[in-house]
Amino acid sequence: MNFDRIVSGVLDSPLGKTVAAKAGLPAATELRRGAAMPAGPVVLATVNTAGSAIPDALGSLGIDPQPALVDTPDARTTDADGRQRPPAYPGRIGAIVLDATAAARVGDLEQVRAVLRPAVKALEPSGRVLIVAGDPATASEVETAAVRQALDGIMRSVGKELRHGATCNLIQVADATTAADLAPVLRFALSGRSAYVNGQPFVLAPPVEPVETSEGLYKLDQQRSAGVDPREGRIVVVTGAARGIGAAIARRFAADGDRVVVIDVPVAGQALAEVANEIHGTALQLDITAPDAGQRIARHVVERYGPDARVGALVHCAGILRDKMLVNLDEQRWGAVLEVNLAAQFRINDVLLAPGQPGGIADGGRIVAIASTSGWAGNKGQTNYAASKAGVMGMVRALSARLADRGIVVNGVAPGFIETDMTASIPVIDREIFRRSSSLLQGGRPVDVAEAIVFLADPATPMNGQVLRVCGQLIVGR
Ligand code: NAI
Repeated sequence: MNFDRIVSGVLDSPLGKTVAAKAGLPAATELRRGAAMPAGPVVLATVNTAGSAIPDALGSLGIDPQPALVDTPDARTTDADGRQRPPAYPGRIGAIVLDATAAARVGDLEQVRAVLRPAVKALEPSGRVLIVAGDPATASEVETAAVRQALDGIMRSVGKELRHGATCNLIQVADATTAADLAPVLRFALSGRSAYVNGQPFVLAPPVEPVETSEGLYKLDQQRSAGVDPREGRIVVVTGAARGIGAAIARRFAADGDRVVVIDVPVAGQALAEVANEIHGTALQLDITAPDAGQRIARHVVERYGPDARVGALVHCAGILRDKMLVNLDEQRWGAVLEVNLAAQFRINDVLLAPGQPGGIADGGRIVAIASTSGWAGNKGQTNYAASKAGVMGMVRALSARLADRGIVVNGVAPGFIETDMTASIPVIDREIFRRSSSLLQGGRPVDVAEAIVFLADPATPMNGQVLRVCGQLIVGR
């Protein structure tokens, strides 16, 4: 047994936990995961007079929201010691949704404080605070833009103050956002599927226009209006799927009924075959850095699913670390990381995005790439990795703008510290520091990243060109 294992065992042992508690380190809460919605009531508050999209969206999810308590001087009570107490909910609440879309003046922010104060106190474990606001970039007045940005600061601070697995996120709506657009975002953000997303903005895009495909293969809006599940029969390609986050992504898509192609290097062939068998998908042993990787994926799709088959969602998950301080970093470690984590994705995209490519990405399809919080913040010993992951974010933004006319949507996910074989190679003390550096006081699980990817790959999700962090609000990065 090596030193790392010994320390890890001590930290995870009952004694280790007792020592951590004695040292004043708070214990992490088991997070609510999966489709489960909050157990307690959902409270709805509004700043000024807001539109009806949120009640309608909540209604479509079967949620009948309750009115919020407001902390005004008149509503306070005085306790036996003469202290002023804010109004208190009679029991735990599951979530508060705050419609701040009409917030425009600095003074309006007092209404935000006044409804959040009692709600935060009453929030159940793994409860949710969701602030819905306009996008600062589209505000016509400077003060309105500032107020919308202020809500972002409130959201990030509340996320850090909440305890017991509760989270706070911001949904920035576009002018044209409807209740139908908002519903899938509220469902994800309220449910356990967003367990490890905390302190993050969800920036909604104007809805993608109906897709007129040249091939007539993936007419998203027609499928929707005909009442057909737009995901039915969808082919999803996931790279790096033999283990870790990639395997979790493959399992999650398969659980939703998608047909999944799992890809990994030949040396991981056994594990890859096991994942494919488990989810009734198909396996392709492929090093994604091969010059003909895109052609081989397209060929596999046609051979296994028929000549008319097209990819509904492509997930770029394969990635590697070759950490070294820059003073020790040679061209092999530099090149390997940039090749796998970034350059290979371009070559694959180029082939699969060629219009009419058999086995390529359908018009109306989705691409999701995995970045990293290292790409936001940089990390000591990771110039190569941070370059590749920041590059992924640049690719997401640029590609999404270029593919919009084909209805192809491109987003990214930036995981923080996720418990996988990759992060098991990090020294144990550093691992523990990473865990405790998130507001949720723990590392995420592969399924947490998988949930965010399935959400972003869903044709109903109105987000495009965004990178959503799944990091438990890790202290690094923005
Ligand atoms: P992992 O090392 O457990 O799995 C990565 C998979 O990619 C492996 O199965 C590997 O064989 C495969 N792969 C590597 N090079 C390949 C190539 N050339 N062709 C095909 N497949 C290849 O890693 P993990 O932790 O599951 O990470 C998955 C993704 O998430 C990576 O892109 C990683 O950079 C990213 N990420 C992970 C974080 C974490 O905390 N685990 C944090 C942030 C990002």
